Amino acid sequence: MTQTDLLIIGAGPGGYRAAEYAAKQGLNVIIFEADHVGGTCLNVGCIPTKSFARNAEVLMTLKENETFGVNDLDYKFDFQKVIQRKDEVVSSLRAGIETLLSHPNITLVKGEAQFLDAHTVTAVGEEYTAPHIIIATGSVPKTLRLEKPAARPVLDSSDLLSIDHLPKSLCIIGAGVIGMEFASIFNAFGTQVTVVEFLKECLPVLDTDIAKRLRKSLEKQGVTFHMQSGVTAITEDGVVFTDKKGKAVIVAADEVLMAVGRAPRVFDHFTCAGVEYTERTGVVVNEHLQTTVPYIYAIGDVNGRQMLAHAAEMQAIHVVNQIVGKTDDIRLDIMPAAIFTQPEAACVGISEDRCKEQGIEYVCKKSFWRANGKALAMNEPEGMLKLIASPQGEILGCHAYGAHAADLIQEVSGLMCRHTTAEQLANIVHIHPTLSEILQSAAEQ
Ligand code: NAI
Repeated sequence: MTQTDLLIIGAGPGGYRAAEYAAKQGLNVIIFEADHVGGTCLNVGCIPTKSFARNAEVLMTLKENETFGVNDLDYKFDFQKVIQRKDEVVSSLRAGIETLLSHPNITLVKGEAQFLDAHTVTAVGEEYTAPHIIIATGSVPKTLRLEKPAARPVLDSSDLLSIDHLPKSLCIIGAGVIGMEFASIFNAFGTQVTVVEFLKECLPVLDTDIAKRLRKSLEKQGVTFHMQSGVTAITEDGVVFTDKKGKAVIVAADEVLMAVGRAPRVFDHFTCAGVEYTERTGVVVNEHLQTTVPYIYAIGDVNGRQMLAHAAEMQAIHVVNQIVGKTDDIRLDIMPAAIFTQPEAACVGISEDRCKEQGIEYVCKKSFWRANGKALAMNEPEGMLKLIASPQGEILGCHAYGAHAADLIQEVSGLMCRHTTAEQLANIVHIHPTLSEILQSAAEQ
């Protein structure tokens, strides 16, 4: 039996960040990973998608060539080169994480780890124990329960990221974060994209007005949306759904992407340790991210709280701080998120819709990209920002879409952590000309 200070199951953003930080705090750590280090985010999620998204952005800029005075432009789009660049980005970052995990206090065990009991984990024939254990096993794509099994192969986001050819047409089931990012990317690549979504509007996390404007923008770019449409079957001919008028419709497509959410990756062997979980909501944790066994923690997608890489990383720091007896002021309740479509969208805190639904008193201050000097100079006039404040002025949230929306939202997240008011934000000097003035001008209203 190998004994150490901390065992970590899973080397995604939650697991590797916990290992790195714990090692710096002087703990000896053993981290288990059955696949590549980096988890979903690096290997089949955020990073490869953002690499594709950058190619999409370049293609969209090329389409504006005459606006920028570049005439008679002639080019060929090489999808194999797009794949190669994506693979290079992923492998270089993976090498970086492997270096990080080569710290003298960290041992990386390549293999699947399983609980034998509440103190023992086994992997590749060895047994390990530690006074603290972190579960960071991530999530898996959900699939739709249809009456009949799909009559043709259906891709998930990992499959679409490793596709070796550019499909002529693509039907995406689900207009959530994954569905919208892939719709934007593949539309820019020249694929005919159709999105089928059950709800009235896309991206339920976003303010409805902003989500609608973003959807309309993608529609203008060529994406077809069928909203309030529930998929009933996947046949050899395509995706069958009932549209909002109750009519059965079929969308023929070369490829079908299922993007109807992700589920926590839980295992039967968690019960050997007494760790409670459900398949749908993941490992049960309290506000300190302790499972039903207090010295076993669950961080990242597996606890089903906030399925975002940066949430997993900050949960990791928070848990290690508890283990080493440090206090911190990490605000896990202020969790910014971004959707890397063209244009980008992002949000933090409460939306105007939620304020209305929950009867929360609020003030909504809006501003627009078209009124910002830098946005016009960049030829990026599209975008809107809503800053939500309490009647006393404290900032409660901000939702936006437009070029670099994520960077603007990041500033709001920082200010919310310090209980800043809209008036205080308006009084902070912002560089001119920058997109950040969009935020300042909302605050000034
Ligand atoms: P999601 O939960 O964001 O969206 C799934 C969508 O599928 C929903 O809008 C839902 O109404 C729709 N849907 C469900 N059943 C349907 C049916 N029968 N027919 C049509 N539509 C149906 O899930 P998504 O997009 O798969 O993303 C999974 C997770 O990954 C999310 O938690 C997300 O936050 C995370 N993620 C984050 C990214 C980022 O931060 N930029 C990028 C990609 C994923």
